[in-house]
Amino acid sequence: MSTTAETLAAAYFKDGTLPALPSGHFIDGAYRPSANGGTMEAFDPGLGKAFASFAAGDAEDVERAVASAARAAVLWRRSTPIERRRVLAAAARLVRERAETLAFMEVLDSGKTIAEARGDIANVARLFDYYGGLAELHEGASIPLGPDLTSFTVNEPVGVTAHIIPWNYPSSTFARGIASALAAGCSAVAKPAETTPFTALLFAGILSEAGLPAGVLNVVTGLGTDAGAPLVAHPAVRHITFTGSVATGVRVAQSAAPNVASLTLELGGKSPVVCLGDCDLDAAAEGVLWAIFCNAGQVCSAGSRLIVERSIHGALVEKIVTLTKALKVGHGLRGADVGAINSPAQLARIRTHVDAARARGRSIVTGGGIGADAIADTGWFYRPTIIDDLPADDACVCEEIFGPVLSVQVVDDDDAALAAANGTEYGLYAGIYTRDIGRAMRLAREIVAGQVTVNDYWAGGIALPFGGMGKSGYGREKGREGIDAYTATKTITIRG
Ligand code: NAI
Ligand code: MG
Repeated sequence: MSTTAETLAAAYFKDGTLPALPSGHFIDGAYRPSANGGTMEAFDPGLGKAFASFAAGDAEDVERAVASAARAAVLWRRSTPIERRRVLAAAARLVRERAETLAFMEVLDSGKTIAEARGDIANVARLFDYYGGLAELHEGASIPLGPDLTSFTVNEPVGVTAHIIPWNYPSSTFARGIASALAAGCSAVAKPAETTPFTALLFAGILSEAGLPAGVLNVVTGLGTDAGAPLVAHPAVRHITFTGSVATGVRVAQSAAPNVASLTLELGGKSPVVCLGDCDLDAAAEGVLWAIFCNAGQVCSAGSRLIVERSIHGALVEKIVTLTKALKVGHGLRGADVGAINSPAQLARIRTHVDAARARGRSIVTGGGIGADAIADTGWFYRPTIIDDLPADDACVCEEIFGPVLSVQVVDDDDAALAAANGTEYGLYAGIYTRDIGRAMRLAREIVAGQVTVNDYWAGGIALPFGGMGKSGYGREKGREGIDAYTATKTITIRG
């Protein structure tokens, strides 16, 4: 029987025992130390303590990884779609076999709950299966030009791709880009976030065991400035997939411009959940609760703004507050509903936002401070927080907080709801709660967002295209469209 996360957690809490961890970057098919010997400490956000160290890479490690990926790109582009599918399917099986260890490591790295981590690891296996299948189905077109000409398109892999991974969904963000790139016939170099290095390293080992040739996937760990910056500026990189902040995304786009490398930018948001007066109040309350407090609010597509019609404002907020107060905040391996904040820097950002709102006299109806429920959970926690009745220009309405903080805006009709929903620079995601399909459809059409759900905030999954409008970025990941960024269309025309 395979080890469960509970067994691993018991050993870890007893004396710090961990499963075997990879040591070094994953370059050219093997784990290797940094060229300069540098390492960094990895912290468990639930305890606020270091648990291991990992390689701190720089430009020299990036150079080796990109050189390896460039060599492998030539080989991998000639692989058959069936070969790519077999590797990805075998990797999916290994991920499922080792799901408990992977989920355990994801909790230690990120601070999320074990339930959330299990969901993420299941998604990784799904992504490997889905894009493995798509390798065979990413077909071109035949274009009619007349009797003497035959014209058709071929989806060619773009070559070496770079993947800058954030810390909120280290596993699933890694897998959605890497699975698409490998299925398309591209090679890849991934740079995980400096606070969450381990799962990407473990997936690299798994893909290698599954038969991926050396060099097709490389992982360089370390700081964004030391390892990420030289990777995205490297002239051999043809496409960059970046998920993170707007400021860093802009810098990445600037680095890519001289090389004319293409980009997918997923830059977060300030997504609205519009609750109209005729909605099912209990369903809406439960939907809003998890729209914002899932992953302790550290979600690019978190529903961080409740936009509520005045007739149900008091009743709906009361229901959400009651549910919020019942949430247990603590270490992800000790049965918490809401886990830790990933780093002290992120915790400080959240505190600064809420403290400033308090100083402006805003109405914090629950939460508004730090700390877990259990004394043993000594890490970085923020109480699930709701700030009621905010004006449209409040900083907590306009700016991404990236933590468990829900802002509430009260509106009088659908036009006001729409104006509020579209009142930020972002446009990633939106939820709508109403029993009236006509009202729902009008809002779904008019709200600026890459994805809209009605009466179930997190409906859907890896098969749905996902990405932003406005400052939330551009390009689409997941679904059939996810593979497009990694291929370029070649049109071949023959007279004869
Ligand atoms: P960040 O955007 O700086 O980091 C994201 C990734 O980019 C990390 O892997 C980092 O190492 C890398 N990176 C940093 N500087 C780089 C550079 N010059 N070149 C290449 N790669 C670089 O975000 P950070 O500082 O971790 O968080 C700040 C804010 O960003 C959060 O408060 C949140 O608002 C937002 N964010 C949004 C995410 C999303 O899912 N869209 C994910 C993470 C953060
Ligand atoms: Mg960590």
